[in-house]
Amino acid sequence: MGIKAVVAGASGGIGQPLSLLLKTSSLISELALYDVVNTPGVAADLSHISSPAKISGYLPKDDGAKTAFKDADIIVIPAGIPRKPGMTRDDLFNINAGIVKGLIETIAEVAPKAYILIISNPVNSTVPIAAEVLKAKGVFDPKRLFGVTTLDVVRAETFVAEIVGESNPQSLTIPVIGGHSGETIVPLFSQAKPAVSIPEDKYADLVKRVQFGGDEVVKAKDGAGSATLSMAYAGFRFAEKVLRGLKGEEGIIEPSFVYLPGVAGGDVIAKETGCDFFSVPIQLGTSGAEKALNPLTGLDENEKTLLKACVEGLKGNITKGVNFAHNPP
Ligand code: NAI
Repeated sequence: MGIKAVVAGASGGIGQPLSLLLKTSSLISELALYDVVNTPGVAADLSHISSPAKISGYLPKDDGAKTAFKDADIIVIPAGIPRKPGMTRDDLFNINAGIVKGLIETIAEVAPKAYILIISNPVNSTVPIAAEVLKAKGVFDPKRLFGVTTLDVVRAETFVAEIVGESNPQSLTIPVIGGHSGETIVPLFSQAKPAVSIPEDKYADLVKRVQFGGDEVVKAKDGAGSATLSMAYAGFRFAEKVLRGLKGEEGIIEPSFVYLPGVAGGDVIAKETGCDFFSVPIQLGTSGAEKALNPLTGLDENEKTLLKACVEGLKGNITKGVNFAHNPP
């Protein structure tokens, strides 16, 4: 089966390197790039790479979004504006909420079966918006909608490896759960595999670095945006895992922000947290999010405290997204 992948927001800081990585993937046979600017150039450039994926670029004119999205198998969305110093992800809400809503409306129409991976911030609200739009159009399948929180996992691997002296951070598996914004991000070092021992005097700073690592990049870029290259890597890693699951590979697990009541095993977690949308380790398979693995048993005292703060913030973010979808300004 050939896979058609789409990047919406393909000309941006994340979109370009993400499109590059997808173009090099042997899992993809067709890659369509959509953005409001510059996609013809990005597509022409990438088209010279000698990988199998056939590439094309689309702009809004001549119904470009519809043509780009039509019959896509997987659509990754990094469209929107990024943070500047001093901004929280929530500050992006007004602009990005409208962009995501519009893109999802088109997807519902021309690619209702697509697996949708949302990178656009604030993920805690843009994913609920997407779910509500898909529901209203009668095509919502919770197993096919993912908020991409992989960058938090990638950061956790990197920062923990620095502390414990692990030379290959990718050999660590560290669940990061909750949402994708500041205190809603909950790293579970107690569940790391192989087990790691974080010195007590380093724990608080490590948690803060995973939660607010994005701010380091925003500050260093000094007004030129937020994480793009590490995010492109993370987005590609997650997309590839979804595709490998679809192709039948077993045992693929990666955390993602999903609508829990619609994923097997998710109900219990939704009840326990009081949040319908939540990131937990997801078992990926031939139908997408096949199972939500419950990470809440065996939390240590620190993690219970982090979870409490997460849930308090996340509930409001989710409600804000749902309300926006029902009553856009
Ligand atoms: P950027 O400004 O460099 O690129 C965004 C692209 O979206 C631009 O090319 C723009 O033309 C395009 N765009 C705007 N409206 C559009 C529309 N209606 N349809 C299609 N394309 C449209 O921003 P960057 O740095 O690539 O970030 C993109 C988003 O990703 C931001 O919301 C940012 O906050 C988020 N992000 C998410 C992360 C995560 O972990 N989930 C990590 C880092 C960033």
